[in-house]
Amino acid sequence: MDTLFVTGGAGFIGSALIRLLVAESGWRVVNIDKLTYAGNLESLTDVADDPRYVFSRSDICDRTALDVLFQTHRPVGVIHLAAESHVDRSIHGPGDFIETNIKGTYTLLEAARAYWSMLEAKDKPAFRFHHVSTDEVFGSLGESGLFVESSSYQPNSPYSASKAASDHLVRAWHHTYGLPTVITNCSNNYGPCQFPEKLVPLMIHNAVSEKPLPIYGKGDNVRDWLYVDDHARALRLVFEKGISGETYNIGGHNEKTNLEVVDALCSLLDELKPRRDGRSYRDQKVGVADRPGHDKRYAIDATKIERELGWTPTESFESGLKKTVGWYLDNPDWVAHVVSGEYRQWMDRNYGDRA
Ligand code: NAD
Ligand code: TYD
Repeated sequence: MDTLFVTGGAGFIGSALIRLLVAESGWRVVNIDKLTYAGNLESLTDVADDPRYVFSRSDICDRTALDVLFQTHRPVGVIHLAAESHVDRSIHGPGDFIETNIKGTYTLLEAARAYWSMLEAKDKPAFRFHHVSTDEVFGSLGESGLFVESSSYQPNSPYSASKAASDHLVRAWHHTYGLPTVITNCSNNYGPCQFPEKLVPLMIHNAVSEKPLPIYGKGDNVRDWLYVDDHARALRLVFEKGISGETYNIGGHNEKTNLEVVDALCSLLDELKPRRDGRSYRDQKVGVADRPGHDKRYAIDATKIERELGWTPTESFESGLKKTVGWYLDNPDWVAHVVSGEYRQWMDRNYGDRA
């Protein structure tokens, strides 16, 4: 049974990927996650007892811990998702983004390279270091155009700059040392188990908690939305079939303004959990100060992954959003635990600082 490492597997996308890999593939998965505020093992209860799943509470900045993990588990590759991921947090405090996204990726690359360089020659080409990145590294689009793999890098926020830096490191480790790498750049994800600081879960949580729905600026910024399980399928495909040294864009063909997203969420909530006073959740929308340096529009051209690897998204925006709202309404405990910090105490009791 071959092993792969998933870093950041207790986060939103990583947990969706691990649930998919354990349910649908034969991989043995080692989840390497530090369990920051954004990591929640409650997203992995479905797989927690599976013999093909292993959890290690480890920091990707800890080279010693990584060396032990590589030697112990001898993986055929790594899918690297561990990161600080929220733009607003990066504006208020960029330090953790530099540490984890840049230094952490560097440390992981070096640990992977040390392990890979000792593999037998016949095993080296099959190894993959798959770096999971964002379309935000390409900067902001105007009214028209799409990001392609060859779009120039123009990151605007501390978050996207730190992800761009990590992409460049991965590219350099491939070209300089020959480490077999692939990079994926994906658009905005939504779905179950997303920490309620990002647009979709924050709006659902605030709506049902009778709090305001804060719209930055005019609400006319555009994002290209992808359902998280479609992203997870794409990641598996690129890890298993992607060509070393290549990058692949992943996107959902779902460009929406933020107001369109919030209105769609309010309509679903009006239907599924009507307000007690009979009014629409739309009444809770409030305009707030714009995010500094707010990128206007992101949109992905996913032709390459569709043509070369046969991936297409299966979920429409309407069907994906309905599933998402349904999941949050059905799982108030998950949200309550992450918001209150209760889950962190549970994790500390159960996992402490064990690697
Ligand atoms: P997330 O914030 O939900 O999860 C990040 C995970 O990484 C958490 O479990 C956290 O505990 C872990 N982590 C953070 N620092 C760590 C460290 N030093 N060592 C080990 N683990 C650490 O993020 P997400 O939304 O699931 O995003 C995953 C990846 O996908 C990120 O690299 C992000 O840049 C990228 N991405 C996200 C989106 C999106 O819309 N969410 C879109 C494109 C790309
Ligand atoms: P977010 O989910 O933070 O993702 P990103 O900044 O990585 O695209 O934000 C998505 C969009 O929603 C972005 O244009 C900012 C906007 N937004 C709001 O208008 N209000 C909010 O409370 C949040 C969190 C985001």
